[in-house]
Amino acid sequence: MIKNICCIGAGYVGGPTMAVIAAKCPNIKVTVVDLNQKRIADWNDQNIDNIPVYEPGLGEIVLESRNKNLFFSTNVDEAIDEADLIFISVNTPTKTYGSGKGMAADLKYIELCARQIARVAKNDKIVVEKSTLPVRTAEAIKSILDNTGNGVQFQILSNPEFLAEGTAVTDLLNPDRVLIGGENSVEGQKAIQKLVDVYANWVERDKILTTNVWSSELSKLTANAFLAQRVSSINAISELCEKTGANVNEVAKAIGMDSRIGPKFLKASVGFGGSCFQKDILNLVYIAKSFGLNEVADYWEQVIIMNDHQKRRFSRNIVKTLYNTVADKKITFLGWAFKKDTNDTRESAAIYVADDLINEQARIAVYDPKVESNQIQTDLNYLESRSASENEKATKCFDNPYDACKDAHAIAILTEWDEFKTYDWQKIYDNMLKPAFVFDGRNLLDASKIKEIGFIYQSIGS
Ligand code: UDX
Ligand code: ADP
Repeated sequence: MIKNICCIGAGYVGGPTMAVIAAKCPNIKVTVVDLNQKRIADWNDQNIDNIPVYEPGLGEIVLESRNKNLFFSTNVDEAIDEADLIFISVNTPTKTYGSGKGMAADLKYIELCARQIARVAKNDKIVVEKSTLPVRTAEAIKSILDNTGNGVQFQILSNPEFLAEGTAVTDLLNPDRVLIGGENSVEGQKAIQKLVDVYANWVERDKILTTNVWSSELSKLTANAFLAQRVSSINAISELCEKTGANVNEVAKAIGMDSRIGPKFLKASVGFGGSCFQKDILNLVYIAKSFGLNEVADYWEQVIIMNDHQKRRFSRNIVKTLYNTVADKKITFLGWAFKKDTNDTRESAAIYVADDLINEQARIAVYDPKVESNQIQTDLNYLESRSASENEKATKCFDNPYDACKDAHAIAILTEWDEFKTYDWQKIYDNMLKPAFVFDGRNLLDASKIKEIGFIYQSIGS
């Protein structure tokens, strides 16, 4: 039986997942470790509002177990040494250099983890891949562990995370399924069973699927590719709707009632973001290409091409509508996070739309209920389109939406935060320059009410 779990990586996946395991398994000691001292200090902050990941319900669940059977620490070696089972939950960004640049996953953090585990481990361990990884990564981890370890036995499992940010806690508490891949050997099956027993503390057994390692790894990439494909599919139709006079919300409703299609993930938007969709599809494309499956690779790559087009189309439309120039105009972004109920901004459409508009010399004002101004600068600087001081000059963050919108020429809604619907839109209108425009990248507002106030309102796909 597993008594001691270590999770390497205290990010958006490791933090919430371990908090739920600790809450549901009071007899297991769970230690989450990270090299980033500030991150660990924030997880241990007395003020629960300061934990580094914003997720509805997460604060409460962390408080339930923190310093009882849930610990956050920077002492990676000690936690590895104590653990029977180690989750690897470190980041796996897309490579920014060398072969596979812009496409393959950068596995350097995973490899460093594997080497550290090999160096420290003095007794047999189960090592679980939690991060999204390309197919066959387990094999690489195994090879490192077996060839550099102290002669102890390692079993490698793949246990991909399917939680979506913004709903992480409910997704973890009530998963559609838990997937565990492992070796077909006696030891492999034993290791799988031990992890099954952990989840069985709160997940029904028939929702816990066990497969071979590669099926598990590939299922994760495939699930995300299918989800992203649905968003790109409806976004492709949104452009056609704008030309033909159809309304994409009506089309989505009509097709979603077909039980074979289903209603979820059919919301047209300014484009999908987040740390997973693009990265996972690029991984899939890279793997397909590496096996010479060019048609397969092209098919999936189109999902990303469509998504880039959707973001670019949104910013071009703003420029065109504002009389073909946004130079020195104030454009207010409501929302910067890649979706509501998270403070995560990775790959958020807002970053790319802002970048385009800054190239057109617009002044960008931003209000997001959970994203801090230094994050916005970091995101823009990461694109390397211009110097940090130029980015700083072109953007201004506000901690209240009414100030952010004051004297603006236009508002662009980039995230579907619920609170945006409850604003006093008349007051916002009164304080804007006229004509006052709203570009709703999330089809969030009630079009007829907004137009009645006097706004010129444009949404996606109508
Ligand atoms: C995704 C998967 O859903 C999750 O299972 C996996 O573990 C990680 O990747 P996440 O990226 O956190 O989760 O959020 P998700 O809800 O999938 O949204 C991704 C992006 O698609 C967001 O930018 C969202 O706004 C956008 N989206 C989603 C749409 O534009 N329209 C939709 O209908 C659904
Ligand atoms: P995810 O969304 O996959 O959780 P994050 O970037 O939020 O990704 O979190 C990954 C975390 O892993 C980061 O906090 C990073 O500091 C941590 N990390 C990366 N490599 C190591 C390592 N070798 N040891 C400990 N922590 C690591």
